[in-house]
Amino acid sequence: MPVVPSTPAAIAEAAEYLRRGGLVAFPTETVYGLGADATNDLAVAAVFSAKGRPTFNPLIMHVPGLAVARRLALIDDRAEALIRIFWPGPLTLVVPSLPGSPISLLATAGLDTIALRCPAHPVAQALMMAARTPIAAPSANRSGHVSPTTAAHVEADLGTVLDMILDGGPSEVGLESTILDLTIDPPRLLRPGAVTADDIRDAIGVMPQSVVPPAGDRPTAPGQLESHYAPRAAVRLDADHADPGEALIAFGPHTTAPSAGAVVNLSPRGDLLEAAASLFAALRALDATGTESIAVMPIPDHGLGRAINDRLRRAAAPRPAGAAR
Ligand code: TXA
Ligand code: MG
Repeated sequence: MPVVPSTPAAIAEAAEYLRRGGLVAFPTETVYGLGADATNDLAVAAVFSAKGRPTFNPLIMHVPGLAVARRLALIDDRAEALIRIFWPGPLTLVVPSLPGSPISLLATAGLDTIALRCPAHPVAQALMMAARTPIAAPSANRSGHVSPTTAAHVEADLGTVLDMILDGGPSEVGLESTILDLTIDPPRLLRPGAVTADDIRDAIGVMPQSVVPPAGDRPTAPGQLESHYAPRAAVRLDADHADPGEALIAFGPHTTAPSAGAVVNLSPRGDLLEAAASLFAALRALDATGTESIAVMPIPDHGLGRAINDRLRRAAAPRPAGAAR
């Protein structure tokens, strides 16, 4: 897909792609984003597939402002103070999700928290207004490549897999947004950016604790991956059957019927995109049955299957007693 100037007609067309589950790259003041409808599991799975990411990191949800943020998350006084000062702008806030939020579980990696950002770029603002849905958007580059700050960078990396690339000129900030975790006290700075720790202290009177990895702005630091949803039940991988009472996560048409317990088939037709889209919902649903153990049939280890298997290996790893979930 060629790069398209951000005319009102092009923005309207991009919004229509998003509403139909497509992928649109758009400019923000930090870096270009690879956007999908944040409420659409399949569209979010397509984001991970397009990036070629071997893991499911929770994504940032882009919203037009405070009113929409309140529909998705618990915005306390401190969050509201920060929003009033720094939005729209390069500050992402991690806050508790509201129960019943329409956001895809894959987009939040199954967590009970959500990262919200309101970009200042006028094209991003216009796209959010036209799409009328929160937009999940990581940086619009293939995994392992540097973040794009022009439409041409996006085209070079992802041109063949996007429905549209909106050109809004070079990104002014050129570095991903600051991420601040407000779900703990004191707040934690998860990623440094244009809004600094001192800016945050000046706004709320508390200096955020810095947990920024030495490597700088790599958001895929292993420590952050630990924050993924962990099922209560034990997880048994590469299972060819389920034991009595064990729940089963199946994949593909050849499902072994379990002797007892619940079954969720991630994709009866063996489609990895569909499987990724339903993974976190499946873990939650089977956990909710009260089962002690979840057996998982083998998932092909290519494409999105690598990210699915990475997630399943984490879910199956031995956990320290009393580990936070
Ligand atoms: O500047 C930016 O923020 C760009 C532009 C496109 O807006 N977006 C961006 O999004 O960098 P993304 O999805 O790549 O950022 C994801 C990072 C994760 O790696 C994780 O560090 C953090 O955001 N994150 C998201 N949700 C989180 C959560 N619930 N708890 C902790 N960290 C979270
Ligand atoms: Mg990135």
